[in-house]
Amino acid sequence: MNKVALVTGANSGIGFEIARGLLAKGATVVLGCRDLKKGHAAREQLVSLTGNDAAEVMQVDLANLARLRNFVPKFLARFERLDWLVHNAGVWPRTRRKTEDGFELTLGVNHLGPFFLTDALLPLLVRSAPARVVVLTSSMHREGTFDFEDPQFKVRQHHGGTAYAQSKLANVLFTFALARRLEGQGVTANAVHPGVVATGLRREAPPNAREPKNPLTPEAGALGPLHLAMSPTLANITGRYFEGTEQMPASGAANDVKLQERLWALSRQLLKLPPEVPQGS
Ligand SMILES: NC(=O)c1ccc[n+]([C@@H]2O[C@H](COP(=O)([O-])OP(=O)(O)OC[C@H]3O[C@@H](n4cnc5c(N)ncnc54)[C@H](OP(=O)(O)O)[C@@H]3O)[C@@H](O)[C@H]2O)c1
Repeated sequence: MNKVALVTGANSGIGFEIARGLLAKGATVVLGCRDLKKGHAAREQLVSLTGNDAAEVMQVDLANLARLRNFVPKFLARFERLDWLVHNAGVWPRTRRKTEDGFELTLGVNHLGPFFLTDALLPLLVRSAPARVVVLTSSMHREGTFDFEDPQFKVRQHHGGTAYAQSKLANVLFTFALARRLEGQGVTANAVHPGVVATGLRREAPPNAREPKNPLTPEAGALGPLHLAMSPTLANITGRYFEGTEQMPASGAANDVKLQERLWALSRQLLKLPPEVPQGS
């Protein structure tokens, strides 16, 4: 297999297992990690677990646009194709903190960083068609509303759960808007809730909420994302939401096309991306 995947946050949790599954199928997998040391340690483990040494570590820090800008040309120089872009990395901070660029951390890492990365890699994805974008969201997107007046908690009191649910709703809104833009170009975009999984995601939660009841293992949590990435049955399925391997309806807010487009425009504006060229022009 000559296929290339980029998995963000592949050094731990669900991302590690997604990378493992793709490597086991013979893909070349770029482990997009913010911490290179952790990335190399994960690579060593992944190579020994899968016997596939086509795992490469590259720095992807979603909380730092300068670093993301640095990553893109390196990736484009190194790889001629991108078959899977897996937006896995995510955070759930419990206090209001900021990315290097001053964005509220939850929105910055969970949504704005992935938006920027997708925008930069989209031409390569299209050239590599058939290709797939897989976005890890959460069933918590159902509890989310997107506050366009104050998305970054500059005015309202920051609340970790509210910020996380908003960012996970943003993941689904983004996926659906992206799928629409990619229609007919051989690139699909789907979002997936991996289940409630025992990982480091809740490390900042109060002690009694740090370990959910009966969580899935990270390996089981990776089954849904791997299904979206690799199942032949999903070759032409796009703009959908899954829980594990099952397609489910996303929340009403997530399906609201006006919201999807409003978030798309806001994201481009916050990231200072040039206006989109209308399709067909
Ligand atoms: N676990 C669950 O129950 C659950 C449920 C629903 C959805 N999800 C989603 O699943 C995804 C994976 O989470 P997980 O549970 O596997 O959590 P995790 O074990 O905490 O892994 C998160 C990964 O994201 C990386 N990351 C954090 N900040 C980053 C940044 N600025 N730039 C690049 N990478 C960054 C982390 O790197 P470091 O190791 O350097 O911190 C780590 O590799 C997330 O999108 C999460 O929202 C998880």
